[in-house]
Amino acid sequence: MAWQMTQLLLLLALVVSAWGARPRNPQGRTDLLNVCMDAKHHKTKPGPEDKLHDQCSPWRKNACCSVNTSQELHKDTSRLYNFNWDHCGKMELDCKRHFIQDTCFYECSPNLGPWIQQVDQSWRKERILNVPLCKEDCQRWWEDCRTSYTCKTNWHKGWNWSSGINECPVKAACHTFEFYFPTPADLCEGLWSHSYKVSNYSQGSGRCIQMWFDPAHGNPNEEVARFYAEAMSRAGPHATGPLLLSLVLTLLWLLG
Ligand SMILES: *[C@@H]1O[C@H](CO)[C@@H](O)[C@H](O)[C@H]1NC(C)=O
Ligand SMILES: *[C@@H]1O[C@H](CO)[C@@H](O)[C@H](O)[C@H]1NC(C)=O
Ligand SMILES: *[C@@H]1O[C@H](CO)[C@@H](O)[C@H](O)[C@H]1NC(C)=O
Repeated sequence: MAWQMTQLLLLLALVVSAWGARPRNPQGRTDLLNVCMDAKHHKTKPGPEDKLHDQCSPWRKNACCSVNTSQELHKDTSRLYNFNWDHCGKMELDCKRHFIQDTCFYECSPNLGPWIQQVDQSWRKERILNVPLCKEDCQRWWEDCRTSYTCKTNWHKGWNWSSGINECPVKAACHTFEFYFPTPADLCEGLWSHSYKVSNYSQGSGRCIQMWFDPAHGNPNEEVARFYAEAMSRAGPHATGPLLLSLVLTLLWLLG
């Protein structure tokens, strides 16, 4: 009997600790709304920035980027990352504006909490993963870039940095975007190691993130982040359900 009591107490301890240790969300982050990721140029907290430059101005009311960052990222080979868009000759301007918007979005958006992940990288502690990008944002990006040139499918890695600026490695030949990215998803998902996932939802649905929006109607991504944050916190406790059930069954079996 004493042996059974010990087992029982042990199991109870297990149940309690499993419950206590359950993740609040898949990332283990408790704050999913109105946050800035811990990366190279982000502010620690979002806030108003009246003078955000040009394409970054939609985030003016509440941003994770400073005015400096917003100005710098509009330059070719900006000092932010020393990244050269024109690594295979001049990128067309219609194409480049999508890359500038993508960078504004990455640096300025305070609505990425549900998709922030910890990473072990020298230049940042957090990244975004699988942000559900509205299908039009990806489609237009791909259409406007298909005739520009590049030499790689993943722009996060594999460059020759020996000159201090990204250059195509010798084995990577310059071809059109369409050659390296046959579909819109190949571009939007492959480019930054799955920072984005192309959503089947459209702009204005409240279910996908917009890189482009008209700030006159507010920031549509606030609602989207709230929706996914809520969905994720509901998923959290459910995930421990099967574990709890099996522990209770073992307990009953032991007592029986
Ligand atoms: C912004 O840029 C200026 C000049 O380039 C620099 O002196 C200043 O320190 C920068 N401020 C921040 C907050 O990075
Ligand atoms: C990297 O670029 C330098 C010139 O900037 C070149 O000498 C070297 O061969 C390149 N290395 C590779 C692996 O592409
Ligand atoms: C995506 O949306 C289209 C049209 O709205 C629909 O036909 C298709 O089945 C959807 N695909 C998925 C995976 O939901």
